[in-house]
Amino acid sequence: MVERELISEFMVNGILLEPAALDYLEDRENLCSTLLGEARNNRLPTFLSLSGVKSMEMKLISVPMQETELEPARAEFPKVEVTCPKSDLSFYVDGERDITGKSISEGGMKDFLTYFRARYNAMRRLFRRRRELTGSLPIAKAGRMDEVKIIGMVRDIRKGPRALSVTLEDESSEIGVTIFLDKKVKLVGDEVIGVVGKLRGKRLIAEDIVFPGLPIVQKNRSSKEVNFLMISDTHFGSSNFMWDSWHSFITKLSEIEPKIDCMLIAGDLVDGIGVYPGQIEDLDVKDVYDQYELAASELDKLPHEMKIFLQPGNHDYVRLAEPQPALPEEIGSLFSNNVVLIGNPSYINIEGVDVLSYHGAGLDDYLPALNIPYTKPLEGMKAMLIRRHLATLYGGKTPIAPESRDYLVIDKIPDIFVTGHVHGSGAAVYRGVVIVNASTFQSQTSYQKMMNFVPDPGNFLVLNLKDMSSGRVVV
Ligand SMILES: [Fe+2]
Repeated sequence: MVERELISEFMVNGILLEPAALDYLEDRENLCSTLLGEARNNRLPTFLSLSGVKSMEMKLISVPMQETELEPARAEFPKVEVTCPKSDLSFYVDGERDITGKSISEGGMKDFLTYFRARYNAMRRLFRRRRELTGSLPIAKAGRMDEVKIIGMVRDIRKGPRALSVTLEDESSEIGVTIFLDKKVKLVGDEVIGVVGKLRGKRLIAEDIVFPGLPIVQKNRSSKEVNFLMISDTHFGSSNFMWDSWHSFITKLSEIEPKIDCMLIAGDLVDGIGVYPGQIEDLDVKDVYDQYELAASELDKLPHEMKIFLQPGNHDYVRLAEPQPALPEEIGSLFSNNVVLIGNPSYINIEGVDVLSYHGAGLDDYLPALNIPYTKPLEGMKAMLIRRHLATLYGGKTPIAPESRDYLVIDKIPDIFVTGHVHGSGAAVYRGVVIVNASTFQSQTSYQKMMNFVPDPGNFLVLNLKDMSSGRVVV
């Protein structure tokens, strides 16, 4: 719909559109017709801002059907220390930073505003250490200063031949910012950044762009030898599941010395159903409940002394929007009691070491925005740490649920940061944080072949939490 038609369609229904909302709606036919339907039923405010439009859009995508069918109300994940009777492993899940049992979002406009306010405030606190921004002011007051210092959320990014043109906003106002390309700055939509610069007319010419960054802090180590294995993306039920590798994995874990004390599965335990068009052709097990029964019986063949932390991913049977709660009790009850269900993302403290586990769907927005190839997920994870956020972009590939707290902010610096999702395998250290992209049990799918992506399955990292020395289980 062209701009003029849009304005008049909404005006006829008594709705005024903010210019930014108009831009956003121009190439979103479906959203326009839904909003117009809402307007005709008097369910829209008379002035619709960009945030309002995005909120309505969120309402349409963030509550998948299965959530209401499968998600029983659960008590808050308690932050209690649990001692495994067999292995003596001491651990806890950080209940404050795991959404499980705490989702209150209905995806409405109010939730959306609350969510972005929570994100901005949580991010703003992370800039406290940045001396470049000492004395920063709300955008509405920034025009009175010679040198302008602001902290704002990136609302839109347009790339011109010589500069990026960015709109930054905070609760007080918004401002156009010019960032010349020679600064070599890459931005991700809806992230919060600091800008130092000078005003030229009403535009701010950026001299320095500041990210929250990752301070180097004392890292935690366990006082005893603890071997922590990280796997991801098993995709039970897929016809590409690597059975030979799995059987070899079971054997190796029974025989390995020293033994593995705990293992993380960072999402996509099963292949799921209806995740992408035509997926049914790629499934050996075509019922999702049967997929979980299969997964549970196979995990039961692993040593029972080993704790297993099980996180959902975008193929699992929980809502798609992040943060994702742990698998529901109906599924969880299939597993033996050495399996601990956690949300996505989640912080687990294992013998004093903080592990941030995130399935990694946010990489689907980070990697293209920053021109990082899928073969280098660790670079994407580093960008997440620098920006202190796991999935900033709203309206991109990663659906986000507007909770009252932003669970995707990295406000606690982990000792280990793990993702899966891209089916690669790698590890590195960035400013003292061990970053790990955990490998998969799924061989190259037809989709990956079409995309020319070669996974690195069956190649798993083990970390000794006492000194972070590493080893590998290759199957
Ligand atoms: Fe996956």
